[in-house]
Amino acid sequence: MRLILVTGGCGFIGSEFIRQQLATNPGLTIVNLDKLTYAGNPENLTQLANEPRYIFRQADIADPDAVAALFQEFAFDAVVNFAAESHVDRSLLDSGPFVTTNIVGTQVLLDAARRSKTPRYLQVSTDEVYGSLGATGLFTEETPLAPNSPYSASKAAADMLVRSYNHSFGFPAIITRCSNNYGPYQFPEKLLPLFITNLFNDQQVPVYGTGQNVRDWIHVADHCRGIAAALEKGTPGEVYNFGGRCEKTNLDLTFLLLDLLEKPRSLIRYVADRPGHDLRYAIDCAKAERELGWTPQVTFEQGLADTIAWYRANGEWIDHVKSGAYREYYTRQYGDRLKG
Ligand code: NAD
Ligand code: TYD
Repeated sequence: MRLILVTGGCGFIGSEFIRQQLATNPGLTIVNLDKLTYAGNPENLTQLANEPRYIFRQADIADPDAVAALFQEFAFDAVVNFAAESHVDRSLLDSGPFVTTNIVGTQVLLDAARRSKTPRYLQVSTDEVYGSLGATGLFTEETPLAPNSPYSASKAAADMLVRSYNHSFGFPAIITRCSNNYGPYQFPEKLLPLFITNLFNDQQVPVYGTGQNVRDWIHVADHCRGIAAALEKGTPGEVYNFGGRCEKTNLDLTFLLLDLLEKPRSLIRYVADRPGHDLRYAIDCAKAERELGWTPQVTFEQGLADTIAWYRANGEWIDHVKSGAYREYYTRQYGDRLKG
């Protein structure tokens, strides 16, 4: 592939994908279409400022005219759709932008790609579309969709649109569903970067409910290698799950962070649970291993140490991200439940 459209490339995972793919594929050019919402940060890609194989366009994936103009300008070999409203808690505060970007935006992209006969389309989805697991079992690609939050409902709706375009029109689309990512450049509204950056300043960390909810953690670089493998080797119409085989309760993860950062457990603040909080996510990624030759490479121990080191070395990035609108969100989400 020579020319790929990446949407949402100024976010956490999209920016990792762009850095990684340009570094490993010398013949590849990437066009990044990003609206630059609160989560879109051009600073995530400053190292590409002088890279001729990187092209940026600011636009909304839900704007049919802007998207059509881009497909007129370029003949893409593939589209990888990362662009999304991605945070569950925000979807509980206001689901409107989730419906517009995640559902309408996907439909607009699918129509543009279909009209242009783009030979490959990959929808970056999430394990959250499968709903919640009990104490045992794993999500497979056959698990029925049962989304529980407005975020996961909007992602499931997008997946169903992608599925329908493949089924009805033979449109060559693939869906990937991944578990919780961690790594550098993650916006500090999500658990790990929120807790790490709070703890740097001896601020309290808000654990929802009892902290017994389980997430399956995967390093963002492994997720992006999986997406690249699916793009290259995946079968149109298929779904591929990616996970890290790394289940942890939120409380155990919080204890681990406190130990690594040498902070006292008194900084834990138990706050009211998230409404409808999914108990457990865990992925069976055997299909991706078998059919794509992919396997997660980064151990959680190494990945977490590197992630903490990255945040420690990038105080300016944190300061920029945590200024302005972030403070308003933080107050709205956590109110006066946290001290310091
Ligand atoms: P993010 O919130 O960090 O970044 C989202 C990016 O999309 C931002 O750059 C933002 O500006 C852009 N964007 C938002 N609305 C847009 C619009 N209307 N038009 C164009 N650009 C727009 O998200 P992330 O964590 O990098 O997630 C990327 C994708 O991966 C999402 O589709 C998400 O559902 C999926 N995913 C995330 C995780 C995770 O753990 N973070 C896990 C599985 C799947
Ligand atoms: P999050 O990073 O928001 O990812 P997701 O909801 O998509 O899994 O949350 C991860 C887990 O951490 C989830 O069980 C909710 C919990 N959590 C807290 O306990 N406190 C917090 O402040 C946040 C943001 C999340």
